[in-house]
Amino acid sequence: MELCVALDLPSAQENLALAESLKEHNIWMKVGFRAYIRDGKAFIDALKKINPKFKIFLDLKLYDIPNTMADAAEEIAKLGVDMFNIHASAGKVAMQTVMERLSSYENRPLVLAVTALTSFDEENFTLIYEKGINEKAEQFAKMSYENGLDGVVCSTFESRAIKEATSNSFLTLCPAIRPFGEDAGDQKRVATLEVAQVEGVNFPVIGRPIYKSENPLEKLEAILNIIAD
Ligand code: C5P
Repeated sequence: MELCVALDLPSAQENLALAESLKEHNIWMKVGFRAYIRDGKAFIDALKKINPKFKIFLDLKLYDIPNTMADAAEEIAKLGVDMFNIHASAGKVAMQTVMERLSSYENRPLVLAVTALTSFDEENFTLIYEKGINEKAEQFAKMSYENGLDGVVCSTFESRAIKEATSNSFLTLCPAIRPFGEDAGDQKRVATLEVAQVEGVNFPVIGRPIYKSENPLEKLEAILNIIAD
């Protein structure tokens, strides 16, 4: 497992101070809407300056017509980030167009597709997608696998079934991890780190349990100790 820390703090200074405090560990840093819209490429460059071995996951969840998504994917590749994501519901043609456009990049970023947002409960998910979360997440994952993506964003509870339906090497990145049973906040389907390990999660994403803790470095190291076991 490779830990991914969500940088969701209210200012660039706070996010960079958090990154600075964690810099001795070569972890993944997740840059989401808030940070990227506000702080842009300069923020990614600043993270790489703090620790060139930080890996960057740009979590912008692209969803548009295929050509517009491919244009955006290409710009993302030029930023030098290591991973980004699209919405699986953008469909098969969007997936193919994005992957085709990135094929000329030697070190292209990993591309994941979002299946079901972990903030959905069954009732609200079904209102939109007309199927249950498990069934739809698996269907989205198969489509992503068949169209050349590297993995999916899903909940811990779908990770195993998705790997069984695709391949063990198909990556799962799972938010809503509460390593030691911390407050779930707005997340509905939360899991501990041990469960994530058992379910074969490749990238557990952890935000609030780290950045809201009294001592983020201590918390990070406690988490890394469990991952290393
Ligand atoms: O603070 P917390 O650990 O809940 O943070 C989870 C992070 O993962 C947030 O940045 C959130 O936007 C992101 N995320 C999510 N569910 C998804 C995709 C991304 O919670 N399906």
